[in-house]
Amino acid sequence: MGGNALPISSTVAVIGAGAMGAGIAQVAAVAGHSVLLLDNRPGAAQQAIDGIRAQLGKLADKGKLTAESARAAGERLLAASTTQELAGASLVVEAIVENLDIKRALFRELEAIVGPDCIFGTNTSSISVTAIGAGLQQPSRLAGLHFFNPAPLMALVEVVSGLATDAAVANTLFATALAWGKTPVHAKSTPGFIVNRVARPFYAEGLRLLNEGAADCSTIDAVMREAGGFRMGPFELMDMIGHDVNFAVTRSVWNAFYNDQRFLPSLIQQELVDAGFLGRKTGRGFYNYQDGAQRPLPSTAAACAVPDQIVVCGNAPAAKALADRLQQAQIAFEQTESIDGRIAQAGTAVLYVTDGRTATKRALDSGIAHTVLIDLALDYGRTPRLAASTALQASTDARDAALGLLQAAGWSVSLLKDTPGLAVMRTVAMLANEAADAVHQSVCDAPGADAAMRLGVNYPCGPLAWADAVGAAQIHAVLGHLGQFYGEDRYRISPLIQQAVYAGRTIHA
Ligand code: NAI
Repeated sequence: MGGNALPISSTVAVIGAGAMGAGIAQVAAVAGHSVLLLDNRPGAAQQAIDGIRAQLGKLADKGKLTAESARAAGERLLAASTTQELAGASLVVEAIVENLDIKRALFRELEAIVGPDCIFGTNTSSISVTAIGAGLQQPSRLAGLHFFNPAPLMALVEVVSGLATDAAVANTLFATALAWGKTPVHAKSTPGFIVNRVARPFYAEGLRLLNEGAADCSTIDAVMREAGGFRMGPFELMDMIGHDVNFAVTRSVWNAFYNDQRFLPSLIQQELVDAGFLGRKTGRGFYNYQDGAQRPLPSTAAACAVPDQIVVCGNAPAAKALADRLQQAQIAFEQTESIDGRIAQAGTAVLYVTDGRTATKRALDSGIAHTVLIDLALDYGRTPRLAASTALQASTDARDAALGLLQAAGWSVSLLKDTPGLAVMRTVAMLANEAADAVHQSVCDAPGADAAMRLGVNYPCGPLAWADAVGAAQIHAVLGHLGQFYGEDRYRISPLIQQAVYAGRTIHA
């Protein structure tokens, strides 16, 4: 598997001097390569080089590079004006327009110019690497070298092998990305590669919750941020990415998987695109970004009285954190074993962590009318907010007792409509499900899937490691119940998760 990085003495060519090409050129130059930058827009390459040099100067001012290395890296960048000038390059990375025919034509043209050992890297984020390579005399020399934006800052690089890619070429690119200070992961050329595929449920489950009226955007965003530990909630993130871009990626992955329901786009996004509400860049998306507009506050349950009788049950992470937090708040409670997975009782209310059933269904199954569910939290001890839902059969007194208990433990509670899997749990379960399928289908390995999601989209934890921390059986139950509730193939459980549960193993193993 191992490969050697390209020698520092070798020349790297980057074609396309836009946001990505300029970033990649900067990374290669800082690593020590001579870099030729080419763009078919006259003046664009030199302009990008001037911009990179200014950027390097700023990094030196901040002490992240020495002034000498910033200057030297800047000098290693040279604008080219024809493909002929790239003849001596050992690696050509293209970051041009996202169009199959244009990318194919460019590589075909290059094949007649560069040497036989020159490696081709494409920065495409959505086009099949196999398809880009088709028609080349030597398709084995081409692989995806997929950087994330902004390339100088984001650590992840997906090294994507098409059907014809030579393993030695992928390994050289892997070792080279590593030498450039990046964290590469190997991926097979399949729709969305790793990150753009595995991330789909982050948006899709949020959109489904919104569509079903579980809560409003700011409440779901607050729950995902505060309890889930994600940097941004799905709606604020989609507004930042732009709905045109995000919707296009969703549609392309969905189409490429022959309309698999797993990736079904949301009508809500179609509406936003149709309306031209593309997010921050147009001043309006899920939120209003006009001057003076205020972000609506997340809904937070009004304060309820601390219940007289509190029992904390068992020692699951949520129960343990609840007991710790009550102790800190000097609230008296009893402790017992957990008989049926419950984590607490407050007055007549019985509290559980969601297993993917609605509270209403769980109440029916157990005969316990006053059932209250809480959502998953990345860290129950630290989260300031928790989502909860109550069974339709539960009394208001029971609901208030449960809220009073959670609030006494210091949690702000967002009460969601009784929707299966609440917000964080169903999102994490579906992220893990998708990552598990990617591993099961040999797109990548489990550490690669987790690293990709931590480094490519800044998730607080890799989805598979997270699912194992929650428990494979619990994730399996959540997905199974979501599938039963909706009757949709979307929630079918990855064979990898099923096998892990049958074997009593972790998913990661
Ligand atoms: P961009 O529009 O900022 O830059 C593209 C540049 O390529 C432009 O300067 C354009 O003049 C030049 N160009 C177009 N056709 C050319 C050709 N035939 N020969 C030479 N130059 C040509 O685009 P951006 O965002 O930098 O994306 C470039 C590639 O990177 C695309 O394949 C995109 O899918 C991919 N990508 C983009 C990411 C992003 O967040 N923007 C992230 C990861 C990949």
